[in-house]
Amino acid sequence: MHPDEVYQLLRTLTSPVVAITAERDGKRNGMIADSAVRASIVPAIPRVSVYIHKFNYSHDMIFDSGRFGLHLLRDDQFELIHRLGFGSGRTRDKLADMPHHVGKLGAPVLDDCHAHFECAVANVMDTGSSTCFLGDVVEVGYGKASRPTGVVMTAAYFRANMPSEWRPEYEAQLKAAQRFAAERSRDIKSVVWRGLPA
Ligand SMILES: Cc1cc2nc3c(=O)[nH]c(=O)nc-3n(C[C@H](O)[C@H](O)[C@H](O)COP(=O)(O)O)c2cc1C
Repeated sequence: MHPDEVYQLLRTLTSPVVAITAERDGKRNGMIADSAVRASIVPAIPRVSVYIHKFNYSHDMIFDSGRFGLHLLRDDQFELIHRLGFGSGRTRDKLADMPHHVGKLGAPVLDDCHAHFECAVANVMDTGSSTCFLGDVVEVGYGKASRPTGVVMTAAYFRANMPSEWRPEYEAQLKAAQRFAAERSRDIKSVVWRGLPA
């Protein structure tokens, strides 16, 4: 099968579009991911996992702090996705005028979302170009609301319905990430998460 065909099939496995937040040394940030999935079938041990590319500012913030916020978004939150997912927080404060509060773990919680999970990193897996973070969910809520609002934004819905003027930037960003990953994906490191036996 042609690699592009395989890639399109794999795309059907992607997660909803989520906002990932982090805090390190007083600096708060947020990004977008479509690689988050449930990582536990035990109701009493809720877990999620998410792949974060190493070139993203959020990557080192999460790695160093050991915690992150994960937000399910509504299918009308295109603007938020554009703000967090189309440019790095290295050069600007992406949360400056986005209503949020500090969660139980210290990571930012976005006030406006479908639902949020506050997560403590339980383990990591290196992929060469990214890290897969396994997170223990330690707190759950609905942003500032008392219950979930709206319908969850899926990756397929976002790709099909994003404003057409965003598409060139989205495609260029994806191509750059693919180039970065292609160069590093075979260089997997053995990483033992702190606190775990070596
Ligand atoms: C729809 C969408 C899905 C994305 N999925 C991921 C992902 O799963 N993992 C990742 O590392 N980056 C993903 N990104 C890219 C990051 O959100 C983007 O590089 C962001 O600018 C990183 O911000 P930061 O440098 O402030 O951390 C996605 C972006 C969009 C728009």
